[in-house]
Amino acid sequence: MTVERAAELLSAAHSGLAMTGAGVSAESGIPTFRGEGGIWTRYDPVKVASIDAFLEDPAAYWRVSRERGGIALAARPNPGHYALASLEAAGLLVAIATQNTDGLHQDSGCRNVIELHGSSRTVRCLDCGAREARSDVQARLEVEMPPRCKACGGIFLKPTVVLFGEPMPLPAVQEAFALARAADVMLVVGTSLVVHPAADIPLAAVRSGARLIVVNAEPTSFDSLAEVVIHGRSGEVLPEIVSRLDA
Ligand code: APR
Ligand code: ZN
Repeated sequence: MTVERAAELLSAAHSGLAMTGAGVSAESGIPTFRGEGGIWTRYDPVKVASIDAFLEDPAAYWRVSRERGGIALAARPNPGHYALASLEAAGLLVAIATQNTDGLHQDSGCRNVIELHGSSRTVRCLDCGAREARSDVQARLEVEMPPRCKACGGIFLKPTVVLFGEPMPLPAVQEAFALARAADVMLVVGTSLVVHPAADIPLAAVRSGARLIVVNAEPTSFDSLAEVVIHGRSGEVLPEIVSRLDA
């Protein structure tokens, strides 16, 4: 009945907004950060994913990033991504704001994806600004650690993702908050909602009167604000919801 209720709310949406986190890509094989098996249970995020740590020792960053980066590059969208793309295609979602940097929402056909934490598919040299595809850099990590910039030979090649201690891309954040304040339905999928300001986006939506739907494998601190809470795997739950939309 909660799936039906979620389908009912989404069927009537005119300005729905989705916000996703690592959980929506878990069934594509990309480990989450927190919760069971999360990578922050093995590494200290500040030590390996902060801008200070990166500048101090880019090789240490790349040794950790090599593993997750390789998995993300090989990953394909799962049914949860495709379900969100069909909600957007049906005009029920106006955008998908994501904390993920894996590009799988775009791969699944979502057109308006707001990348709050950037994209791990591109790498940028902090010395000269040259950009390269992450897949090209990934290929030479076995023989070049840290990878060097092809243009200037610099060792500060950094994926275009937001590291701890870095600001989020302002245009993306502004767009996400503007859509949240205008949203009539806010669909939150696969995020522990512990990282701010991303976690403030659904809050802004609820404060502006949006109905909140949470789909997550584990309870979140937003469950009490939600009209519908479904604890489950997004790759199963989201297609279920889509299959029950008013035809
Ligand atoms: N379906 C739905 N939810 C899932 C699934 C699944 N198959 N698998 C895991 N989850 C849930 C987990 O229970 C967890 O609550 O997804 C959530 C993922 O939470 P995090 O790992 O904290 O990921 P996220 O919320 O996206 O992290 C936010 O933190 O480290 C930074 O920049 C990083 O963007 C990331 C940010
Ligand atoms: Zn360079």
